[in-house]
Amino acid sequence: MVSKQDVLATLATVKSPDGTPLTGTAKLSEVVVSDGKVFFSITVDAAVVPQWEPVRKAAEAAVRALPGVKSALVALTGERTAGAARAAPPQAARSAPPGAHAHAPRGERPVQGPPGVAAIVAVASGKGGVGKSTTAINLALGLRDLGLKVGVLDADIYGPSVPKLLAIRGRPETLGGNRLRPMTGYGLTVMSIGFLVAEDTPMIWRGPMVMSALTQMLREVEWGTLDVMIVDMPPGTGDAQLTMAQQVPLAGAVIVSTPQDLALIDARRGVEMFKRVNVPVLGVIENMSYFVCPKCGERHDIFGHGGARQEADKLGVPFLGEVPLHMAIRETSDSGRPVVATDPDGPHARVYREIAGRVRDQLKVSGAGRAAPKIVIEA
Ligand SMILES: Nc1ncnc2c1ncn2[C@@H]1O[C@H](COP(=O)(O)OP(=O)(O)OP(=O)(O)O)[C@@H](O)[C@H]1O
Ligand SMILES: [Mg+2]
Repeated sequence: MVSKQDVLATLATVKSPDGTPLTGTAKLSEVVVSDGKVFFSITVDAAVVPQWEPVRKAAEAAVRALPGVKSALVALTGERTAGAARAAPPQAARSAPPGAHAHAPRGERPVQGPPGVAAIVAVASGKGGVGKSTTAINLALGLRDLGLKVGVLDADIYGPSVPKLLAIRGRPETLGGNRLRPMTGYGLTVMSIGFLVAEDTPMIWRGPMVMSALTQMLREVEWGTLDVMIVDMPPGTGDAQLTMAQQVPLAGAVIVSTPQDLALIDARRGVEMFKRVNVPVLGVIENMSYFVCPKCGERHDIFGHGGARQEADKLGVPFLGEVPLHMAIRETSDSGRPVVATDPDGPHARVYREIAGRVRDQLKVSGAGRAAPKIVIEA
């Protein structure tokens, strides 16, 4: 049987981008070895995530090649410093002149939402890579399963991932004038900048352009009648995020966090950001909360589970639920077959539906009231 020491010895041969052994970088989480399955995470600054993806892959491959290893799951998490521009297109961050963020004057009125949409809910996180987009999509599908008509707006202008997560290709059809017909996938009505801009186009967006892209996706898309629109927000709590939170007419926000302490500091910032712009925080979801060994059923808290629930209590916001770290969630998510849609009777779909139920209860929307949507937010 492979031991933790074997795994660490192998990881010492994997080089980080600057050439130091991975084990010497203090970026490794605890390594869990359970019945031949190996799990750990690597946490790096969000700006260097692209450089670290090959390291993650190399670490996974090296561990997998060890005799006695049945599978290896290595998560790469990006820590984002507050106010930092999105890491995905570094050119964008560099080319934007200082102060180019869209600074909405305080108290500026939000862009008017699409007329047929009863409630717009942001899914946000303080930092990147915590599973926000995965959660947003599966939450949307969970709400769909509860009988609601659901839309997804990908507000991650720099790094849109919704087209990939839902395996939707092609371009939206133009209707009369400037209007666009949204795309559809798994029963969801979907819009993303990813449908409009080629994947390899360097997106040199400045704050005001980001806002106009967002405004267009809200106002110039035929969303039709929706009970809930889930907005996959860009990571972070900088000016750009604040502006979005301020300008999109949000009924509420859901914060996704991993259980790590730092993630929680970020989660707290996320909660604060929405409070600042008077958007009710519907609650916190703890993602990659724990890991259940598929073989022995034993539960491992590789990120130190439970922090998000305590943090939610402290902040006085609801705790919406825990999503385990699971290979199936990652594989389905990354291959455009979200787990709630492709394994609706499985344990993960159940977790997401429970969370969706709590979100729905807070919004007090019901599919039945679709003709005359009326939203009441609990204090
Ligand atoms: N519960 C989970 N179990 C296993 N893997 C997960 C889980 N949640 C997310 N992942 C994986 O983690 C990676 C990051 O997830 P995702 O893209 O949803 O994060 P994000 O917060 O939206 O990132 P970004 O900040 O780049 O927008 C993906 O490979 C995804 O499949
Ligand atoms: Mg994302």
